[in-house]
Amino acid sequence: MNSPLTRLARLPLAFTAVLCASLLASVARSDELPRVAIFATGGTIAGVQATPGAAAYKPGVLTLDHLLSKLPGLEKVARLDGEQIANIASQDITAELWLHLARRAAERLADPDVAGVVITHGTDTMEETAWFLRLVLRSEKPVVLTGAMLPATDPAADGPVNLRSAVATAASPAARGYGPLLLLNGELHSARDVRKTATEAIDTFQSPNDGPVGSATPAGPVFTVSANSLRPAPGDGFDLAALDAAKLPRVAIVSAHGDVDGTVVDALLALPAERRPAGIVLSGVGNGNASAPLLAALERASREGIIVVRSARAGRGLVNRNMEVDDDKLGWIAARALSPQKARILLVLGLTRTRDLAELQRLFDEA
Ligand code: DGL
Repeated sequence: MNSPLTRLARLPLAFTAVLCASLLASVARSDELPRVAIFATGGTIAGVQATPGAAAYKPGVLTLDHLLSKLPGLEKVARLDGEQIANIASQDITAELWLHLARRAAERLADPDVAGVVITHGTDTMEETAWFLRLVLRSEKPVVLTGAMLPATDPAADGPVNLRSAVATAASPAARGYGPLLLLNGELHSARDVRKTATEAIDTFQSPNDGPVGSATPAGPVFTVSANSLRPAPGDGFDLAALDAAKLPRVAIVSAHGDVDGTVVDALLALPAERRPAGIVLSGVGNGNASAPLLAALERASREGIIVVRSARAGRGLVNRNMEVDDDKLGWIAARALSPQKARILLVLGLTRTRDLAELQRLFDEA
């Protein structure tokens, strides 16, 4: 039996030359492909149902390797470096994980051979992770967070197309300069305004004030907003190297509602010093409002040195200073465009820099 090499040697010389040239060309092409680092953290995109299509499922089960094995052809879009950072439901995200993810992403973004980063993530807190990364990453390269609203085992799973589109976007020079982008359902959202607005709808992510910055498919992104029209990170961002999860200030969110009183705030004030928050974000009704008893409790908190920021549960519009609440008199801060959950993150990082009220308000004005 002739060996493959013997058989190759007997081929007409021209055919061998063409075969070798095409092999070299394919190797060259793969080397020319952009390199994309993918970090997996869990979520529904990695979720499994007991039986395909069942309502109940467990998020954060499948590995990134498994997810990528179901996406043939992705190797023709980019050279992929996968890393399983965690495999959790994103309601369990922590500051430790945010910092670890940010540091790994920063390291890969600093590599000249890396075109961009993709992060697979649960949708429950994806907007918060995107915002945290906006505040601590400084690269112009694309960072694209994506996930899914249906688990990987569902016949209508949206994860595969979201992941393909995220890789194509992270590999695209057109996506530079936007800061972290959130991609689901073919839409691209910047980190500041995007929020999860529905418990189960595929189009859950909306940017109520700003709208999406573009769209994305496995063929790549199309932007409708220019990168330089986006607001830069407030305060020029924060120094990732200087942040220590164990030393980050605690900031609580307190919700206003009908018939609310100051019980929750007073319970926070009764905590031992080491567990008391350094800041409280009010998730206010209307324009960041609350009942007289809750405002009085927040005033007690201020007098005890706790920084108070007024945000709103409404979901759209700005919370501006001195509307129904006299922020100047109370020494409080207006969250402006930030949702309560994003205002909390900015206040945590802002308090690592200053306790000056004017400087803190400037951070929210710039956000
Ligand atoms: N528990 C939710 C989370 O991990 C699942 C939702 C999802 O990932 O879409 O964020």
